[in-house]
Amino acid sequence: MLTNPVIEILLNRKSVRKYSDQVPSGEVIETVVRAGQQAPFASQLCSLLLSRSKAPYGAPLWFTICVDMHRMELIMAKRGWAVVTNDLSMLLLGIQDAALMAENMVIAAESLGMGSCFLGDTPNRAGRIQKQYKLPKRVFPLVELVMGYPAEEFPPRPRYPMEFVLFEDRYPELTDSMVEEAMRVMDEGYLAQGYYRKQRAKIKLEGDREETFTYDNYSWTEHISRKWGLWLRDPKDVLNEMEKCGFTFESRE
Ligand SMILES: Cc1cc2nc3c(=O)[nH]c(=O)nc-3n(C[C@H](O)[C@H](O)[C@H](O)COP(=O)(O)O)c2cc1C
Repeated sequence: MLTNPVIEILLNRKSVRKYSDQVPSGEVIETVVRAGQQAPFASQLCSLLLSRSKAPYGAPLWFTICVDMHRMELIMAKRGWAVVTNDLSMLLLGIQDAALMAENMVIAAESLGMGSCFLGDTPNRAGRIQKQYKLPKRVFPLVELVMGYPAEEFPPRPRYPMEFVLFEDRYPELTDSMVEEAMRVMDEGYLAQGYYRKQRAKIKLEGDREETFTYDNYSWTEHISRKWGLWLRDPKDVLNEMEKCGFTFESRE
């Protein structure tokens, strides 16, 4: 495989959950945000909220990355147009704009010696965030990103093997051994770092499933299975949060 300084930064990036007290300068913040802005966009549907109050994991910067239809509608109104595109389609585009911008910020931060970590519970707290930042309607808080100078050192986390990711010309039949190998790589990698033990992050079982895992064998595949096997069954709650932000998924007349 080839390498160069950009590839090295990409391959060494990891989510940082412990930050030093060093506060990034205004110039550093501006650089990170400009690099974020320069990501490809469908419609520049992403805006950023910044809080410098102490963030989760002790990070000095706390961004909330929003899908923003408000600005687009202001521009369109000046051109004598109103949006007729449905909110689901706009949201899909907005999520891509936001994700690309956010990841550019992550990589820019890495290149300046900082680290970062996404926080994914944001849509479920959208109404509260709307109040906190006095968001106008049509701005939806999608994900948060904390950032600062790392106060912990550890190797990058594992990823699926390449043959479980890149499918050339046709999607293959995924054999048991391919699935098991992907699980092994992920689980052994996270276990080697004591990832879930350090975070005390075991998800509690519900119903009649009996706990048989300890932090000696609880790893990524069990964790992710519990998440999507237990959480967020009903779309009502998140739809409700979206509605508070002025997004609806009905057909337009
Ligand atoms: C959309 C999204 C949401 C995430 N939410 C959280 C979160 O709420 N808390 C957290 O500690 N990490 C969160 N993460 C970080 C992931 O746990 C992390 O990226 C993943 O375990 C891979 O580890 P790495 O980033 O160190 O390679 C999130 C990442 C993404 C992309």
